Amino acid sequence: MIVGWNQEEMNNVFNISLLPGDGIGQEISVEALKILEWFSENTDLKINVKEELVGGISVDEYDSPLTNDTLKNISHSDAILLGAVGGPKWESLDFKKRPERGLLKIRKELDLFANFRPAIVFDALAESSTLKTEIIKNLDILIIRELTSGIYFGEPRGIEQIDEENKRGFNTLAYTTEEVKRIAKVGFETAKARSKKLCSVDKANVLESTELWREVVTEVSKDYPDVELSHMYVDNASMQLVRNPKQFDVIVTTNMFGDILSDCASMLTGSLGMLPSASIGTKIESKCNAMYEPVHGSAPDIAGKGIANPIGQIWTGALMLDHLGEKEAAKSIVNSIEKTLSTKEHRTKDLQGTSNTMQCAKAVLDNIN
Ligand code: IPM
Ligand code: MG
Repeated sequence: MIVGWNQEEMNNVFNISLLPGDGIGQEISVEALKILEWFSENTDLKINVKEELVGGISVDEYDSPLTNDTLKNISHSDAILLGAVGGPKWESLDFKKRPERGLLKIRKELDLFANFRPAIVFDALAESSTLKTEIIKNLDILIIRELTSGIYFGEPRGIEQIDEENKRGFNTLAYTTEEVKRIAKVGFETAKARSKKLCSVDKANVLESTELWREVVTEVSKDYPDVELSHMYVDNASMQLVRNPKQFDVIVTTNMFGDILSDCASMLTGSLGMLPSASIGTKIESKCNAMYEPVHGSAPDIAGKGIANPIGQIWTGALMLDHLGEKEAAKSIVNSIEKTLSTKEHRTKDLQGTSNTMQCAKAVLDNIN
């Protein structure tokens, strides 16, 4: 068992903050942890894991979805591995105490502005999608979602009483030139390393904030003459994602559009329970700039039953190792996931399998061995 921090400065020693969170986050993060422990025990890689509370579980314990102590602790780690937050138990709480505020606070405070959400279809799962096999076979696209601005964080916001019977709920969608510029650069750099195609998604025909978005993305494109840039309105993009997803390679978009489009894209792969995501910020001296979490949520409807698909969380762990420079370990996990899913036997119910969470995760571990 790996606990506590290792102060030694070695490049294959990593201090990871594990935040299981709520609902199925609890069940699947245990499985991802077993895999990290296996690498720690059987390879040169040393991973020190320290668990922290976030979300509803932190509300129950500390009356806050993320305490300042937790924020301080995790900001000193090399990376954060998160499960999921939220659930019906906390839905009627005061806005500031909701589990989601904890997650959003981490993103904002650590300035994790670039969220990478891949949607990859393994051959063996091409038939599990609700879409026709030929539409999604070999799909490999990446949505880059701006994560620390836009309507999620814009001010003013709130609910106000306008007369005796009526209230008014309001939020602000705003982007500055600088905010768009830095996420656009991430988009172009990523596209440059892939198929050199970038699609920027906005609603520039209606919203000024995204009119500016389009203007800035176009300006940044001048520094990337080898990347082919296209623009698409978000309503069209959501339609195109299910009509012909392979027309895309890298998509860059705003916080809210990215939230919606990434759920849609994940379903192309057969199950929302499959996909990893990485949220990255600018590297500032010894401050954690990376959090990894599955795209799916806490799934209250199946929480506690031990049947959740652990693949999204395990893959998220692999993505984390990859970004930490441990390419080989990451690759062996992804290969093992692919092998595990190649037959129905070890798949969970969402992928028409019969395995439970533990059995599926154990098969991944056995396949690494
Ligand atoms: C996501 C989730 C979060 C979001 C929630 C849990 C706050 O839906 O990461 O996509 O809206 O960003
Ligand atoms: Mg979402």
